[in-house]
Amino acid sequence: MKNKQILVRNVPGHLQAWIERERARQCLSQQEFVLTVLEQAAAANLALEMPLFAGEWSPTVVEKPMPACLPFRFVDLFAGIGGFRIALENVGGRCVFSSEWDKYSQRTYRTWFGETPEGDIRQIPPSSIPDHDILAAGFPCQPFSIAGVSKRKSLGMAHGFKCVAQGNLFFNLATIINAKRPPVLLLENVKNLQSHDGGRTWAVIKQTLDDLRYWIFDKIIDASAWVPQHRERIYIVCFDKDEFRQRPEFAFPLKPDGEPPKLADILDAEPDLKYTLTAHLWTYLQEYAERHRAKGNGFGFGIASPQGITRTLSARYYKDGSEILIAQGDGRVPRRLTPVECGRLMGFDERYVNRIAVSDTQAYKQFGNAVVPRVVQAVASEILKVLSDGLLKKNGCLLKRAS
Ligand SMILES: C[S@@+](CC[C@H](N)C(=O)[O-])C[C@H]1O[C@@H](n2cnc3c(N)ncnc32)[C@H](O)[C@@H]1O
Repeated sequence: MKNKQILVRNVPGHLQAWIERERARQCLSQQEFVLTVLEQAAAANLALEMPLFAGEWSPTVVEKPMPACLPFRFVDLFAGIGGFRIALENVGGRCVFSSEWDKYSQRTYRTWFGETPEGDIRQIPPSSIPDHDILAAGFPCQPFSIAGVSKRKSLGMAHGFKCVAQGNLFFNLATIINAKRPPVLLLENVKNLQSHDGGRTWAVIKQTLDDLRYWIFDKIIDASAWVPQHRERIYIVCFDKDEFRQRPEFAFPLKPDGEPPKLADILDAEPDLKYTLTAHLWTYLQEYAERHRAKGNGFGFGIASPQGITRTLSARYYKDGSEILIAQGDGRVPRRLTPVECGRLMGFDERYVNRIAVSDTQAYKQFGNAVVPRVVQAVASEILKVLSDGLLKKNGCLLKRAS
């Protein structure tokens, strides 16, 4: 074993066939599947009574009640660097349209997915967007410059969708939803969306989605069960009432089993010296923290423990990296995370973080703005249970047959 890698030679043919069959069935890569099996073995401390190892191998151990994959189509709006795309492709989705106006994010997106997203969403006619099953969007959180919804109601004015202020990006999203009627919406935003602008932003968003006739589910999820980072975000999942007459039995995912990830798992052994803070910046950060401590404020730099998790990575990490610093021991000045480590901290795997096509500054911004693909994937898997269940109920089987 070297550098967390294991090379296994002479894998017998029947095991190779089993790995290939099972990983395809569960839509996992070979590596993900083998790691899952090893994790189960480790959790059971290799106890031989574990069904997986009991005599003849039995596939029921890894069987899931619902298919984990379904060939659906999705659009990736406010796409950033494609955090939603990675997650949705992992569960069988095909991206049919993307929009992102930042040229550096577009560059990353092109490098990773071979396609340049369309630009400003406000300039895109909804009719030019292909039909899709899931609309995914991590839209920016902006206040609505309108009077409160209830006040408008009491004045007999248009409310909800009709009165959402022109110019707000959520309005553009609502217009697309109204025109395209995607069966499912998967939205993500900062945790404080619900308290933003005195609760008005959230009230307008909910009212609008309700006016558009969608069932609404929302939950604040901390990504720390999937990645070694405290990152609370609100996930909003909506189902079209025209398609789902009853409120679907959708539930947000539980935390994955097993040990939560820790920072040490994603750190490089020998990062470039350029990521070590200058003595000047380190002195400044300590003095700044001391001044704030004296005033009773908790603000300041954060040294993250390798055995624990980090604070939330923000888009301003490129400035001084102060929210997540790594101690280097021996009286050395701490360092910030490298962009590659930031990518891993967000749960982007090696095939992405090893192909960063922008400057460090842009990469920090992009990862700090992104969604954690593993959390989205867990949420998407729950959506797929509703979709496949719906298909089965409607048709009796997935495809209708001639009687
Ligand atoms: C919170 S980030 C979304 C990040 C994304 N979920 C990811 O995983 O990388 C919001 C994105 O919306 C983009 N954006 C803001 N206004 C836009 C507009 N008018 N048209 C297209 N994209 C826009 C920003 O450039 C930013 O990348």
